[in-house]
Amino acid sequence: LLVVVQQLFDVQVTGYLLFSLATAVIGSLQFGYNTGVINAPEQKLRAFFNNTWIERYGEPIKPGTCTIVWSFSVAVFSVGGMVGSFSVGVMADRFGRKLSMFLVNILAVIGGLLMGFSTLCSSYEMVIAGRLVIGLFCGLFTGLTPMYVGELSPTPLRGAFGTLHQLGVVVGILVAQIFGLESLLGSDKLWPLLLALTVVPAMLQCILLPFCPESPRFLLINQNKEEQARKALVRLRGSDDVSKDMQEMKEESSKMAMEKKVTIPELFRTAAYRQPLLIAVMLHLSQQLSGINAVFYYSTGIFESAGVTQPIYATIGAGAVNTVFTVVSLFLVERAGRRTLHLVGLAGMAVSALLMTIALLLGYSSLSYLSIGAVFLFVAMFEMGPGPIPWFIVAELFSQGPRPAAIAVAGCCNWTANFLVGISFPKLEELCGPYVFIIFMILLIFFFIFTFIKVPETKGKTFDEIAREFGGIIIDCDMSRDVMNLDSIRINHREQRTP
Ligand code: GLC
Repeated sequence: LLVVVQQLFDVQVTGYLLFSLATAVIGSLQFGYNTGVINAPEQKLRAFFNNTWIERYGEPIKPGTCTIVWSFSVAVFSVGGMVGSFSVGVMADRFGRKLSMFLVNILAVIGGLLMGFSTLCSSYEMVIAGRLVIGLFCGLFTGLTPMYVGELSPTPLRGAFGTLHQLGVVVGILVAQIFGLESLLGSDKLWPLLLALTVVPAMLQCILLPFCPESPRFLLINQNKEEQARKALVRLRGSDDVSKDMQEMKEESSKMAMEKKVTIPELFRTAAYRQPLLIAVMLHLSQQLSGINAVFYYSTGIFESAGVTQPIYATIGAGAVNTVFTVVSLFLVERAGRRTLHLVGLAGMAVSALLMTIALLLGYSSLSYLSIGAVFLFVAMFEMGPGPIPWFIVAELFSQGPRPAAIAVAGCCNWTANFLVGISFPKLEELCGPYVFIIFMILLIFFFIFTFIKVPETKGKTFDEIAREFGGIIIDCDMSRDVMNLDSIRINHREQRTP
């Protein structure tokens, strides 16, 4: 397979590059695992809250209070995610990509232990605190992994490797769904272990990270360590001739040397970043407001209302379809391009949302296959584009200077939308009944139109080329004067060609 890939894209893919990427993707796996893990043991956790209450106050917990504690334990994860994703820029620039990943794992150990020992200490507060810390940890990784992977990958394969983050996420969700089965770790006794298991990959990543290189782009552009950057590239590319990569990075670097350091407030104030920032944020919003996590948090309930008799297996089926289609996208993304796949995904999801509404409206068990089919199609279409693409395209839309700040802003919007869907879906379902997915269908159509009009193709272009399309890397103090959009670039090209 590697040989085919290498011949197809005319790049060298070394074992060392794959090893480094795989190590970073453990962070994505963790994000997926902790997204999926809380669903299956819901009843066990509620029982635990109740027992603790009885122990402390001598009476059972009120159902309303129990639901509040429960939803808080679920939602506080996204709150941690918002804070974590927002801090990623500062951390990645101060400590570098590799050391940041190493340090962030401390949070996984703390969070895992808090949740793992919660029953022993009879404290549901420990579950909530643990979920918050784990959220912080996952928020940081949703920035760090795509950043590291994007910066290590050779340009022709940046999209395919960028999809590895999402592949890690979906495998993590699937593993959590399977481990959460009552016969495995989802039992009365073992659920704290199910939640604490996140410590194991964290330790594994800490063991492997010292063997990975620091991002050559960070070494050269941020730290000006040319020799070290070259050495890292030679190992990653498996060839002594890394002049093409070095040249490209140097061009970006020399422009960056003149570039003002970009903080988050500057990112918003600078006119030239406005267009790519809008695109980055909208793509992330399209991912979450598509309603995907309504399925991943509540699919069992959705299947139940559509008359499915074994909803838990349909949920695991959705996890499996999710994984398979992420692999499909991985192979398509460098051929079909990001823009096309995102459009196909959004359109397909809108159709599935309509089918899902029909299935829910009819609600007969004879039509339960329609609901299963609609959810599977919804998930499959999500993974064609809206799942993987937003996570890596932000790294492509910005040059090294504003990249960490942009990843932080886009990631934070993603987590906020994730939180909103997670917290409001049950209420929306109550209010709209079977029509609830129509809301997502309308949003999907809106994002389809936005993508069609505004999103450019980034496939096969270097970071520098992409930055230039958006008005170049800013080297002037009066940044607003440098704004140039895609159209004016095209006009310039045309003018240059015309004698
Ligand atoms: C994306 C989303 C995440 C979702 C997952 C489903 O990574 O960011 O919220 O749960 O896809 O596969």
